[in-house]
Amino acid sequence: MTLLIKNGRIITAADDYVADILCEGEVITQIAPHLDAPSDAEVVDAAGKYVFPGFIDPHVHIYLPFMGTYAKDTYDSASRAALVGGTTSLIEMCCPSRDEEPLETFELWKSKAAISACDYTFHMGVSRYDESAEAQLREIVNRGISSFKIFMAYKGAFGVTDQELFDTLTLAKELGVIVTAHCENETLVAALQEKLISEGKTDTEWHERSRPPRVEAEGVHHLMTFAEMTGAHVYCVHTSCRDALEAVQAAQLRGVNAWVETVIPYLTLDSSCAELPDFEGAKYVMSPPLRDPIHRPVLWASLRSRLISTVATDHAPFDFAGQKDMGKDDFTKIPNGIPSIEDRVNLLYTHGVCPGQLDLNTFVDAASTQAAKLFGLYPRKGTIQVGSDADLVIYDPEYRGQISAKTQLMDVDYSAYEGWEITGRPSVVTVRGEVQARDGEFVGELGRGQFLSREPTHF
Ligand code: URP
Ligand code: ZN
Ligand code: ZN
Repeated sequence: MTLLIKNGRIITAADDYVADILCEGEVITQIAPHLDAPSDAEVVDAAGKYVFPGFIDPHVHIYLPFMGTYAKDTYDSASRAALVGGTTSLIEMCCPSRDEEPLETFELWKSKAAISACDYTFHMGVSRYDESAEAQLREIVNRGISSFKIFMAYKGAFGVTDQELFDTLTLAKELGVIVTAHCENETLVAALQEKLISEGKTDTEWHERSRPPRVEAEGVHHLMTFAEMTGAHVYCVHTSCRDALEAVQAAQLRGVNAWVETVIPYLTLDSSCAELPDFEGAKYVMSPPLRDPIHRPVLWASLRSRLISTVATDHAPFDFAGQKDMGKDDFTKIPNGIPSIEDRVNLLYTHGVCPGQLDLNTFVDAASTQAAKLFGLYPRKGTIQVGSDADLVIYDPEYRGQISAKTQLMDVDYSAYEGWEITGRPSVVTVRGEVQARDGEFVGELGRGQFLSREPTHF
């Protein structure tokens, strides 16, 4: 396959210029003005459009047994949704429960992803640490995984003990693996939930009160102390509030190697959504919870200052009917998660770039390049240069549209952004040199996605 993209405005994390891009086979082979089209080339006119590197979502859940049910998407729906939204690579959380074997779980998750249309890899969840788990984790790293995931929340499910946290970080340091972490103090969450429920406070509005900012900040502080003692490199996923950011910043000043992710729901929604009447608020229950609006400008400012490295989704889709309503009489039983794999890039562009909250380079850095750099994919992914995979998003800034569950490809019965206006969207999306999406339609091939084997880089 030969593809020539002409006259686009190429935006990377560092550059902004107009040129043509020639893609031969799966990679970019030339970038220059006025390239001649080889006779077999498909030519895409990108005049008036941006050309971004394929976006990377470094935190998604697709196959997820969780809170008595399963996340709704498969790689069929999720990879198509990702691609129409401009995301060409996914990093999924592989989440074994305590009694499952890491290696079997890893192979199970990999088998679920075999139908993916976009490229993918995994953060390997560590839910138990003993001699056997350690040997299996070493083998999983040999099989191309260079990041772990630990949960400090979800007592009795995925959560690890302090000894296991220490052992995981010690192994990660030895292997050069970065550890991604869900930071909330699980003892405090369990105690606050019990108190609220016993007081009859069972509605969705109480979810935030059961996991306030201090509970998240305590989780971050805890992780930072363990990272400091072991020298491991750590990455706080789905960071929602000022208090948590302050805990990371304090650790960075002590020399801890720590990075921060936020997710699109925290940048665009707030706790009032979870207070909507008639159980509508359940659509907005995720953990950590959507916060008071005072945290939103802090998140945007931290993105600009680059204290926050990445914007992910934490895509975790559960239907409103039949799944979220498992918690109708008790908010602690609502499956946690907000779906947004399809909408992340357009929302970040609309609410970040359009109002001037983010410049174009920072937008690309946060939604693509930093994830590639942190997780061992750069420069194969995350940038536009000769030799990189030809994962490209030709983005039409003139497009105007609306988000709706009726038109989305995500396999879930609602949108948290129903009726929201969107400015701009991908008009052509390529993965390794082949067009996979055009103007909101998936035109690619299921099963074409590749497992991205990664080497440890965090020594
Ligand atoms: O509410 C959330 N975040 N659901 C997905 C699981 C997790 O904690 O990432
Ligand atoms: Zn989490
Ligand atoms: Zn998650």
